[in-house]
Amino acid sequence: MFEPFNLTGKYAVVVGGAGGIGKAIAGGLLQSGAVVGIASRNLDSLNEAADLLRKQANGRVEVFQVDASEESSIAGLAENVVKSFGRVDILVNAQGFNTKGPALEFDMTEWDRLYTVNVRGVMLCCKVFGKYMVDQGGGKIINLSSVRGIRANAGGNSAYCSSKAAVDLITKSIATELAKNNVQVNALGPVLIATKMMEKVMAEPGRAEQYTRNIPMGRLGKVEDVVGAAVFLASSAANFITGQVLYIDGGLTAAG
Ligand SMILES: NC(=O)c1ccc[n+]([C@@H]2O[C@H](COP(=O)([O-])OP(=O)(O)OC[C@H]3O[C@@H](n4cnc5c(N)ncnc54)[C@H](OP(=O)(O)O)[C@@H]3O)[C@@H](O)[C@H]2O)c1
Repeated sequence: MFEPFNLTGKYAVVVGGAGGIGKAIAGGLLQSGAVVGIASRNLDSLNEAADLLRKQANGRVEVFQVDASEESSIAGLAENVVKSFGRVDILVNAQGFNTKGPALEFDMTEWDRLYTVNVRGVMLCCKVFGKYMVDQGGGKIINLSSVRGIRANAGGNSAYCSSKAAVDLITKSIATELAKNNVQVNALGPVLIATKMMEKVMAEPGRAEQYTRNIPMGRLGKVEDVVGAAVFLASSAANFITGQVLYIDGGLTAAG
């Protein structure tokens, strides 16, 4: 193994770690040697994901319940993680969802709900865990953005796209603020991946083909595509990289 990718002795928490992308990233961190905590609201799905991860790699996986729309819940998560692990070196914010609707008729209650999780929840996790990282002398934060943070589409995506643009600038802002504290903050920007969040879109006839046509590599993403980039950003190989959004998109954002 290229030694900088070895995460032995590192403690990671993946919020949204029972979800499609979060679970895949948790698996990659685990296989690279990290102790991993996965966190979200539903304990059953967390336990199921943890069992699966333990079968994939012979490492330590803990589950933590959190509602990332509540500041007190996130503060409780950080306390529990630190109580259990002693420290937290890597935070992955893989929570989120999408609610679509035509811009001129957008249900603003849904808008607020989405922003509370996708934007405020990411900011709060960075804020709460960032403090622990500063106090312990460093850490890595990886936020799940999307190609939709820089690329609009006409699919009723104004809330989701703008929430991911906010994630990009939260990432860059905190990266610059914490640069001298040895906390690197980066984001990953995948293109469409068939997870639970995308079930409805994938069920629309012709929709997957329409998305695929725009991707130079000619296919949609897979959860495995995100793992290497996450391990890289979590590792000491990325110690001088901060404030970046790394697109995992088969060339979509490179094309005109
Ligand atoms: N799939 C894609 O095409 C795609 C592309 C680009 C970016 N992304 C981003 O990648 C991230 C993961 O998406 P995914 O595709 O893996 O979706 P997913 O399979 O639906 O997973 C989403 C995860 O977020 C958790 N979550 C939702 N609300 C939460 C809350 N209030 N508190 C704590 N956890 C919460 C869910 O768990 P509970 O419901 O149990 O809480 C679940 O574990 C999201 O930020 C998404 O926007 C996805």
